[in-house]
Amino acid sequence: MNKVLVSLLLTLGITGMAHAAGNAEAGKEKVAVCGACHGADGNSPAPNFPKLAGQGESYLLKQLQDIKVGSAPTAEPGVGRKVLEMTGILDPYSDQDLEDIAAYFASQKMTVGMADPALVEHGEKLFRGGKVEEGMPACTGCHSPNGAGISLAGFPHLGGQHAAYTAKQLTDFREGNRTNDGDAAIMRTVASKLSNKDIEALASYIQGLH
Ligand code: HEC
Ligand code: HEC
Repeated sequence: MNKVLVSLLLTLGITGMAHAAGNAEAGKEKVAVCGACHGADGNSPAPNFPKLAGQGESYLLKQLQDIKVGSAPTAEPGVGRKVLEMTGILDPYSDQDLEDIAAYFASQKMTVGMADPALVEHGEKLFRGGKVEEGMPACTGCHSPNGAGISLAGFPHLGGQHAAYTAKQLTDFREGNRTNDGDAAIMRTVASKLSNKDIEALASYIQGLH
């Protein structure tokens, strides 16, 4: 992916970029209930709970808004992002609260894990090269070569994330169970080119990436 395409995506506004203006100090006081699953500083101890520490602020804010809508007890199927474990949790939070929470976790540092040496070669090849013959772009164009993402564009930080969580997201995008990547369906399109083996290798590679 080149700069032109990225700026085109930005112009089209399809990243659904949320305006982030939170206060990290205030956010710290609002995340007690999150710590059990995501870790007090956002480095979750369990592989199926995503790390939030060091994630881009605007990406975090967009997810919080999407999860709030999609995980309300009365949410219509297919609206926002449904996280069963978070059903109703965000209901009491105002827009300002969500901005503060996003700022807090963004100000922390994501820990890095380890990649499975047996999967590194395949994972790295896909991450850096994509699948040219199938028109799938490299992940690096949007998520950057070290996996840090492009915060201002709302392209999430991936490097260090738990492999089990990443694998579930890629599978959910592919199967249409996660649809909040916007009308352009960037991630659903990317994931449609990935086999289960590809996903396993990418997720493992990303866990060790920094
Ligand atoms: C009972 C466990 C639990 C609690 C409590 C919880 N979460 Fe989550 N959260 C999850 C799980 C599980 C996912 C991932 C679901 C999936 O696989 O898509 C998630 C996903 C997220 C994501 C999306 C991360 C990403 O990389 O896209 C954000 C942001 C988030 N949670 C924020 C919060 C905040 C803020 C709180 C507290 C107000 C909270 N969560 C409380 C379990 C929990
Ligand atoms: C054209 C840009 C683009 C490309 C190329 C791209 N992504 Fe993404 N990716 C995004 C955007 C934008 C999102 C956030 C969608 C949203 O807002 O919910 C995302 C989200 C994700 C997520 C979810 C992160 C989380 O914390 O839940 C994963 C995992 C991911 N991408 C992996 C990949 C992998 C692996 C590749 C390469 C095979 C790739 N992406 C290629 C733009 C891209």
